[in-house]
Amino acid sequence: MDLTAADHRIPLSDGNTIPVLGLGTYTEPWLTSEGTCKASVKIAIDTGYRHIDGAYVYENEHEVGEAIREKMAEGKVKREDIFYCGKLWATNHEPERVRPCLEKTLNALQVDYVDLYIIEIPMAFKPGDEVYPRDENGRWLYHKTDLCATWEALEACKDAGLVKSLGVSNFNRRQLELILKKPGLKYKPVCNQVECHPYFTQPKLRKFCQQHDIVIVAYSPLGTSRNPAWVNTASPPLLKNELLNSLGKKYNKTAAQVALRFNIQRGVVVIPKSSNPDRIKENFQIFDFSLTEEEMKNIEALNNNIRLVEMLLWCDHPEYPFHEEY
Ligand SMILES: NC(=O)c1ccc[n+]([C@@H]2O[C@H](COP(=O)([O-])OP(=O)(O)OC[C@H]3O[C@@H](n4cnc5c(N)ncnc54)[C@H](OP(=O)(O)O)[C@@H]3O)[C@@H](O)[C@H]2O)c1
Repeated sequence: MDLTAADHRIPLSDGNTIPVLGLGTYTEPWLTSEGTCKASVKIAIDTGYRHIDGAYVYENEHEVGEAIREKMAEGKVKREDIFYCGKLWATNHEPERVRPCLEKTLNALQVDYVDLYIIEIPMAFKPGDEVYPRDENGRWLYHKTDLCATWEALEACKDAGLVKSLGVSNFNRRQLELILKKPGLKYKPVCNQVECHPYFTQPKLRKFCQQHDIVIVAYSPLGTSRNPAWVNTASPPLLKNELLNSLGKKYNKTAAQVALRFNIQRGVVVIPKSSNPDRIKENFQIFDFSLTEEEMKNIEALNNNIRLVEMLLWCDHPEYPFHEEY
């Protein structure tokens, strides 16, 4: 893969391509002021980002849409230059809810199609408009849906032209195989968006995905914001790691840039989130240096198999993906 080329895209199994670097847009809604996401997306587009990772449940898709439309009006980008990934939330796994959920994203963004639409988590929740449904005792209201039926509804959305590529997120090997072995499968998942960074390199899942032409999209590629409300802070902060910092010194880069470069250099797409203009720009400056084979191996060896995003609150869901080794 030529990672010095002007347009840093990698091929997907369906013939489309995905920019290897995207901007993550998840921020805790209760900690974020209106307009933050829009400002970040505008800076990102000006910087050269063409891939934006979002979701309806992030509650800021309308801001992503405004930013994209403003940049289009300025003549900075055309719709086809932008790669937007949206996500099907867990309360919408029932086939009849799939298209309306995608349409909510299209309406929020005010676009005709998204480039990629992925099942956000393999666990279904009680269908309805409550995003995080619980009973009167605070217990989660789960739901049983056939993931293959959900997938077929997604395939129909692609046939209707509402989405270019289909993928999944937080799926383990068994759940990927469920889809891959589905009788009459029309479109394979092109990607699996999962946690991936030097402390959690996903060796086995990555190998399995490579064998099936499924691109790994790395969420939390910088080790998350470490908000204890949803992050396991058992391992030390990734960006303080000595090796990443010493390699940073060698290349006149930061630990964050080394962590991102590590993943893109091995064909893993990264979607770092930042709301800070300097860091948004910093995270883009990863195409003008490369790590040696030995350095790549040394970073790979930092893997400690400790997940930061464990989603333990749903660990009793029958489709909780992280009980299995990978
Ligand atoms: N599919 C899923 O289940 C799932 C789960 C989690 C995340 N995601 C997606 O993946 C994206 C990224 O993951 P994430 O937000 O968990 O974590 P991340 O990108 O690993 O880290 C974000 C944190 O790092 C900081 N940061 C950004 N650039 C930095 C730099 N150059 N140096 C130092 N700190 C830096 C950010 O702060 P500032 O904003 O202040 O720079 C923020 O606190 C999300 O936004 C979302 O789009 C998907």
